[in-house]
Amino acid sequence: MSFLPTVPPPLATPLAAILPSEPLLLMGAGPVPIPHAVASANGVVINHLGDTMNQVVLGLKDMAAYAFQTSSPRVLGVAGPASASMEMAIANLAWPGRRVLALVCGVFSHRLAEMALGVGADVTTVTSGALQPIRPEQVEQALAQGQFDLVTVVQGETSCGVRTGELEAIARLVQAHGALLIVDAVCTLSTTALQMDAWGIDVCVTGGQKGLSSIPGVSLIAFSEAAWTVVETRPRPMPHWCLDAARAWRFWGEHAYHYTAPVPGILALYEALRLIAEETLEARFERHARSSAALQAALQVMGLGLLVPEPDRLHSVVAVCMPEGADIPAIRRTMVEGFNVEIAGAFGLDIVRIGQMGEQCRPSNLFRVLYALGASCRLHGVPLDVAGGMAQLEQELTVFPSGSNPTTDLGIAPLVDLGPDPLPA
Ligand SMILES: Cc1ncc(COP(=O)(O)O)c(C=O)c1O
Repeated sequence: MSFLPTVPPPLATPLAAILPSEPLLLMGAGPVPIPHAVASANGVVINHLGDTMNQVVLGLKDMAAYAFQTSSPRVLGVAGPASASMEMAIANLAWPGRRVLALVCGVFSHRLAEMALGVGADVTTVTSGALQPIRPEQVEQALAQGQFDLVTVVQGETSCGVRTGELEAIARLVQAHGALLIVDAVCTLSTTALQMDAWGIDVCVTGGQKGLSSIPGVSLIAFSEAAWTVVETRPRPMPHWCLDAARAWRFWGEHAYHYTAPVPGILALYEALRLIAEETLEARFERHARSSAALQAALQVMGLGLLVPEPDRLHSVVAVCMPEGADIPAIRRTMVEGFNVEIAGAFGLDIVRIGQMGEQCRPSNLFRVLYALGASCRLHGVPLDVAGGMAQLEQELTVFPSGSNPTTDLGIAPLVDLGPDPLPA
């Protein structure tokens, strides 16, 4: 064989020389730390078709339906980021001539509107006030202006830390109007209440790397029967072959070939969903609420403000105001280099964002991120009461109502013996 390469081999740096020697604690807006069971599953490759995979797919769909709180069988995985599941929702249900009402309060809700425009739909946008979600009154008003086929909304707007708290009321209005509702629950699913069937949500999407504490790259989508009927009867061919939900159903419903499924990611997602089913949604919501509230209280005692007032504050990604003049990139760099902890910056705002999704809501991670942030701020000349903040966090996390169990309530590994409840009844 005579092969004369015209491109020489590049300098191939081993991954170990690129990655930090100790993994960073990911306390940003996602991806989040993954449990050991998820990481192990992610290292396994099996045939993507066949009995073993069928069993995995069936189990995964059951557990995903539990997370979405739906009895619809039309639950599918998507090979791709959460944006791919958003795009699957839009591309299957919108086309030229379809009227879409996009409820926009930040980057990701705007992304849904962009996607709808991209497939040629007729898009009307309702924009919220600054740092506010869309209110039901705004939806009612907008729906009265015309007949819409689809409405899009984000439950947790990670970009600015705003939560659509009145999602159920919005869903009812959309249902009464006769439109289908698409909900982005990318950062919120399994961290806070969402009831796809009971609230009347038609399509719900999520990613793996946030509330579910799985890996990025395999996402989920669930369709109601009404939405699925549209998928099956759409009058024109799908512009995206991979994102064609009817084709994807071959794999997710009929165990046949669509494309080669992302096997390790599916196995990882299976384990992540299994851990959620084991914990139960109620316990998981409680753990998230308690953890995020403790973090928020401690941040405030330390001297930092929270960007979004209650009740519109998103708890799964907390937007934290940084004092004027604070060198945010330098502070975040010090957190990484000095403390091995990473938090997120923001989309053009003077804030940092701390994630409270899945494995991020563990006491050890809270103490680490709070100290890293406080100490790094101080190193860069921002005076904060770090000790006060840490003490507040300690107090918030160790005050248990009588009858509660600190081990299970906080999600501490059950082998750790914490001794008796510190607060006697
Ligand atoms: C609410 C929300 N929707 C959608 C996305 C997009 O997710 P991905 O980057 O996985 O496409 C994100 C990512 O941060 C998000 O927070």
